[in-house]
Amino acid sequence: MPTPKSADAKKPDDCLIVIFGASGDLTKRKLVPALHYLWKNGQAPEKFAILGVSRSKYTDKAYRDEAYDFADKEYESRADFDDFASRLYYEAADSTKSEGWPAIKERICEIQKKHELGANVLFYLSMAPQFFEPIIVQIGSQGMVTEGRKFCTIDTHEPPWQRIVVEKPFGSDPKSAVHLNNVLAQVFDEDEIYRIDHYLGKELVQNLMVLRFANSMFEPIWNHRYVDHVQITASESVGVEGRGSYYDGPAGGSLRDMVQSHLLQVASIVAMEPPITLDASDVRTEKIKVFKALRVPEPEDVPNIAVRGQYGDGSVNHREVTAYREEEGVDPNSQTDTFAAVKFHVDTWRWGNTPFYLRSGKAMAQKKTEIVVYLKPTPHKLFREQARQFRPNQILISVQPNPGIRLRFEGKVPGTGMSIKDVVMDFDYEDQWKVEPPDGYAILLYDCLRGDQTNYKHRDEIESSWDACQPILDYWAENPQDDLPNYNAGTWGPSAADVMMAKDGRYWRND
Ligand code: BG6
Repeated sequence: MPTPKSADAKKPDDCLIVIFGASGDLTKRKLVPALHYLWKNGQAPEKFAILGVSRSKYTDKAYRDEAYDFADKEYESRADFDDFASRLYYEAADSTKSEGWPAIKERICEIQKKHELGANVLFYLSMAPQFFEPIIVQIGSQGMVTEGRKFCTIDTHEPPWQRIVVEKPFGSDPKSAVHLNNVLAQVFDEDEIYRIDHYLGKELVQNLMVLRFANSMFEPIWNHRYVDHVQITASESVGVEGRGSYYDGPAGGSLRDMVQSHLLQVASIVAMEPPITLDASDVRTEKIKVFKALRVPEPEDVPNIAVRGQYGDGSVNHREVTAYREEEGVDPNSQTDTFAAVKFHVDTWRWGNTPFYLRSGKAMAQKKTEIVVYLKPTPHKLFREQARQFRPNQILISVQPNPGIRLRFEGKVPGTGMSIKDVVMDFDYEDQWKVEPPDGYAILLYDCLRGDQTNYKHRDEIESSWDACQPILDYWAENPQDDLPNYNAGTWGPSAADVMMAKDGRYWRND
């Protein structure tokens, strides 16, 4: 399949990309292939180079070999990769300590000179979160961004930039998120900080704004008068698969790992008001309003609005899955949620009391990410005799797999009499565009290289999303649950999540 191209052909500025955590999976599995994709499609800067930094010892050649072997399916051939990788370098150094920096700085200068890159640098933090702060502090104290700061730059006409991309998890609670934001603010201006969320790079998430604001048929019904509720599901069929110590530790379970970050971000785009323009600051202003309007639950409400789950053993797609607590690196008595379902409210005029149900889990029946907007029934029941057959009208945005948008509504069954059945109108992304969606990392890196923060998170979004989740986390920490594990791998999660919905007269879309 051909690859899609942006209509906006403005190339990113020349720059050096310095990736901390280069020996980690994310760099080799996602970042290097994403940069290769941009290069291959003519969307990378004219001149650029990548410097990977980690403590593990590699020569440039050994690192290139490893990066290729790790994701060889992403490259046409070894020769194609080598062509790109002539710009890929590696430095073994401890970037959390000042002792590691003379070598890093020397390497940066050498590569900048060799490739004639100028002073633009994109720093990327792609490692475990405990290293974020010491590296940011080092970037600052080593004077790596001084030239880019507007107040003291030498070239005021077109000052070079230094930007930083920060991966998740961004904090583990409101306090640590505020602290990390403050640490970043000591070194970088807010418009140089790119807090990445790869869900914001997914095609159908990006399409949400287009669906809502480039069409006139959805916006009139996109409110509490017509919408009964919104469901956002991100289920995964895999368990933690060898990453038990990370999931049970820094990732901290499904509510932290998925709901607080990815799903609330998606919800904010579903719930936001139309921005004045598509400028990053206008879009982010509207998103921030949604985050500020998220209802912060009272502790006594938590059992009614949140369900946690943990998977036991079972099988997914005929594959045996080991129970979470038996995974290496997981506490055998762990209370960590591998499933979370939460009913949120966005307290705005538009949404009134319309609930947003968000759920995510590991080792579930299917891998799928979808947003479903359920509409209210018609005000007058004209087809009264058939009423029991009716299903609510749904606007289904399928993010993955099978990206697309589906409208489900009632239709007449052919023939005599008046029989009614729900039918589907389908926009299938791959069928329509005959292209494969690029990976979200490629889309987001392209934005960052061009200085576009629209699809990156502002500090206020992160801090408010933690505020809305923290009472749930506190309640769960104070009230251990003795029925864990409470769902078998390969199912749709604990029955308590269905009960939560049933109490509201609703049900999860599990097909
Ligand atoms: C990551 C989470 O952010 O997203 C992982 O830390 C999760 O636990 C992953 O598996 C899911 O991403 P995707 O793109 O496969 O839905």
